Amino acid sequence: MDHLTVVDHPLVQHKLTLMRRTKTSTAEFRRLLREISQLLAYEVTRELPMTTKRIQTPMQEMDAPVLDGRKLALVSILRAGNGLLDGMLELVPSARVGFVGLYRDEETLEPVQYYFKVPSELDERLVIAVDPMLATGNSSAAAIDLLKEAGAKDIRFLCLLAAPEGVARMKEAHPDVPIVTASLDERLNEKGYIMPGLGDAGDRMFGTK
Ligand code: URA
Repeated sequence: MDHLTVVDHPLVQHKLTLMRRTKTSTAEFRRLLREISQLLAYEVTRELPMTTKRIQTPMQEMDAPVLDGRKLALVSILRAGNGLLDGMLELVPSARVGFVGLYRDEETLEPVQYYFKVPSELDERLVIAVDPMLATGNSSAAAIDLLKEAGAKDIRFLCLLAAPEGVARMKEAHPDVPIVTASLDERLNEKGYIMPGLGDAGDRMFGTK
């Protein structure tokens, strides 16, 4: 997979435009995020290994394609990652789920871990880390560090929007982790927000300020 894949499917792009608008309500934002996450999940799982299984149709026996290997691990980077996770789980209901919680230390500006719980045998699973906004890339890179420390070897990063700064940071820290996103936006502003972006993804999906 390329290091960066922008999913330019018309349905993804249309739904993303609706999500960006200030006037889009919390309920609508959440519904659109769930829908887009399923379309992005389709793209990020495109190259999953397959095998065949002997089955009986009403007409005859056949060797039919099925997913091979261990169940996927979806890892939500709290808290906004949960918005992407919900939709993906509808598409991949048997996936195992992990959570990484990080906050930014106001003095050092470094990400600090406050929660970490991931599925077993991480080294044998495809691990998809999800966070809607790849902004500076600092917390995303730190989350991937933690997943690698826990044994993950095959990791993909799924986000809704990416800033060029965040993509560059991830490429430098984790060149082996492909990024799938719905849009590569223009830049970060001085407060670390993605421009034109959609504001604070967590606040918009949970209705907080
Ligand atoms: N996190 C967000 O929620 N929005 C941004 O624009 C950047 C980081």
